[in-house]
Amino acid sequence: MSMELPFAESYKIKMVENIYRSTRKEREAWIATAKYNLFNLRSEQVYIDLLTDSGTGAMSDQQWGALMVGDESYAGSRSYYNFKNAVKNILGYDYVLPTHQGRAAENVLFSQLVKNGDIVPGNSHFDTTKGHIEFRKATAIDCTVDEAFDTMSECKFKGNLDLTKLEDVLKKYPKEKIPFIIVTVTNNTAGGQPVSLQNIKDVSALAKKYGIPVLFDSARFAENAYFIKVREEQYKDMSIKEIVLEMFKYADMMTMSSKKDAIVNMGGFIAFRSQELYRACCVFNIMFEGYVTYGGMSGRDMNALAVGLDEGTDFNYLETRIKQVEYLFALLDGYGIPCQRPAGGHAIFVDAKKMLPNLPKEHFIAQTLGIELYLEAGIRGVEIGALLADRDPITRIDRYPKLELLRLAIPRRTYTNNHMEVIAAALNNIYQRRESITKGYEIVYEAPIMRHFTVELAPKK
Ligand code: F0G
Repeated sequence: MSMELPFAESYKIKMVENIYRSTRKEREAWIATAKYNLFNLRSEQVYIDLLTDSGTGAMSDQQWGALMVGDESYAGSRSYYNFKNAVKNILGYDYVLPTHQGRAAENVLFSQLVKNGDIVPGNSHFDTTKGHIEFRKATAIDCTVDEAFDTMSECKFKGNLDLTKLEDVLKKYPKEKIPFIIVTVTNNTAGGQPVSLQNIKDVSALAKKYGIPVLFDSARFAENAYFIKVREEQYKDMSIKEIVLEMFKYADMMTMSSKKDAIVNMGGFIAFRSQELYRACCVFNIMFEGYVTYGGMSGRDMNALAVGLDEGTDFNYLETRIKQVEYLFALLDGYGIPCQRPAGGHAIFVDAKKMLPNLPKEHFIAQTLGIELYLEAGIRGVEIGALLADRDPITRIDRYPKLELLRLAIPRRTYTNNHMEVIAAALNNIYQRRESITKGYEIVYEAPIMRHFTVELAPKK
């Protein structure tokens, strides 16, 4: 009888980079020097780097080839037109402004649209997005569905916006105070969880009813489209590219961090339907990013971005990508390690409160787990917990979030499933001794905004 062939990657490897497996003794010294902030580690001190999936993916031979034929003209370069055509063909927008990365796109667009006192409803605004809103003395209101906060719920679209929560906001504030609704696809902070096409349509209908534009924060739009295809019955026969076009029909504008689903190491953009808004944003782009046909990007990088948008929306690539995340999830689940369920698109989110039951929240639970994992195996994750949630900008009181998560973001086309095995085994070792972990860390220095990047910690006495 013939065997069913196992699933394997849709690519082979052409170039490799060595990584160093350090000793626990070395790691103990390094993390102390880093003031127990994983951002302060040097990359050579990390064996498997799951800090982020942003800009850390491996470009393809086609992308490296595109770099070589980049056009570095200041204005109107061929590379800009390649990029503009890709945005038109894949996402459906006529107007686009390149920026150096996603947060720069937010800066340019929000400079035009967000004013002091405004309200911006959305689904778990990403930290820089929220930062750009709060920096302008406006308020981000999270309307994510409650299922997102229950890591054990098997809800297929935990990234969705709760329509009642959203409509409450739209009713409460005058239209002039709400510049747009943000739909983050996928919802990074809630666990790389997708937003269904049905929810996108419903949000768009509500937005139309109240006369408010919709902005997609699109960093992982292709992973979102993959989940729509495999989890939302009526779209299973559409191609990823068809689903992507359908999704973006409902967004008046989009910001993009190209470092994720466009599989480049640096870059971003804003795309618009409105010529008027595009023109207004051109002024900010020229001042803060660069002229409108390069916006902080090299021509070669816009070329690689154009190819990346195409490759990133290929079903075979996406299936390989998401199946690797699911592989790690299945290993962890097998060990009984509590994670956000089901597996998200770009990362595993370990439920640190459940993982370390004997640690008070003031000890920074997810950060403590992140440090333990680094000490155990040289693996670097990132805290999505009280450090990231920061203090309330007005009262300055610590905002302890409902969930303390350790995010293990998987770079695209970078690690193998053997690395996933190491990650799972290391977490299992910590899980086995979880009862004995009763002390975490305390802050010795913090910045007034976005403190998690530069915070300095010491072991709690
Ligand atoms: N929006 C989302 C949903 C993001 O995840 C990010 C970045 C940004 C915007 C900002 O983009 O980094 O290009 O300026 N997320 C990275 C992460 C940093 O690790 O999740 P950027």
